[in-house]
Amino acid sequence: MGGGAGNRHDRSPLTEPAPAKVNLALHVTGRRRDGYHLLDTLVVFTEAGDSVRVATRPRDEFTIHGRFGGGLSANADNLVPRARELFRKMHPEGGQTAVSIVLDKNLPVASGVGGGSSDAAATLRALHRLHGMAADDTKLAEAALALGADLPMCLAARTLRAQGVGEIIEPVRGWPSLDLVLVNPGVAVATPSVFAGLDQRENPPLPELPERPDSAAILSWLESSRNDLEASALSVAPVIGEALGALRSSGAALARMSGSGATCFGLFTSQEAARRAAEKIAAAQPSWYVEATRTIEQDDDAD
Ligand code: C5P
Repeated sequence: MGGGAGNRHDRSPLTEPAPAKVNLALHVTGRRRDGYHLLDTLVVFTEAGDSVRVATRPRDEFTIHGRFGGGLSANADNLVPRARELFRKMHPEGGQTAVSIVLDKNLPVASGVGGGSSDAAATLRALHRLHGMAADDTKLAEAALALGADLPMCLAARTLRAQGVGEIIEPVRGWPSLDLVLVNPGVAVATPSVFAGLDQRENPPLPELPERPDSAAILSWLESSRNDLEASALSVAPVIGEALGALRSSGAALARMSGSGATCFGLFTSQEAARRAAEKIAAAQPSWYVEATRTIEQDDDAD
């Protein structure tokens, strides 16, 4: 988490991407005593996403722009100011500077692509950079878990396998960038109701990950995995079935829901095929969120 702002008195504004989180597979493997579900999930992050811009100011400000900004209120309950307060709690000495934060909300809200968690993670990364501080990744992930189960994975923001309620993270190396189309049919789905509607809470873990993750191996691995939340989400919001159908009839090699929905992804064999499918779906469903994107490539020599 480098790239510090350097001089404490000259902190120029900076922007941090908050990529969409897509659960390529999500198995529910059990339930903890506190009611939280145990998961085994393969997660990727995409070039599509929100972004967070921070700058020092005489007093705190928080504003929201972007296509889906209207669906959120910029109050203290939002995960972005909650992340700002967490940062201050973690850095009682140097972290108290007043800041403006602008959230560019390009992703649909409450939609299974980790938007709020990714925004909070980006805020934490941005505030560390603005203050020229290096974050202790382990401590930060532990503290950020209080803001939501997806926070640790959104802080990592790379292809990974997450277990537990999302706090046990293992980087997955060597996967190519995948061409996806994200489709949200315009309904916000409440995560607790999707978990509450599960018929079966003890399912097998993810199958063993492919040793050589080329496109064919990834597709066949995906076909042998599931999203265990899909059936429950479909009964909460049947329109999810239409989103999956639209992806399948536009040539997706595989279509599946992400997280607790309602956003679905389709996997395509090329950027061009993804772009064409997105155009076709958007033309048929102008009110839906439809975006062709790619998963963020990993720098596998880095760690
Ligand atoms: O942690 P987050 O705010 O994303 O979770 C929202 C709700 O979803 C939780 O209050 C819980 O009801 C449910 N949930 C769960 N198991 C998880 C994650 C979330 O039961 N692993």
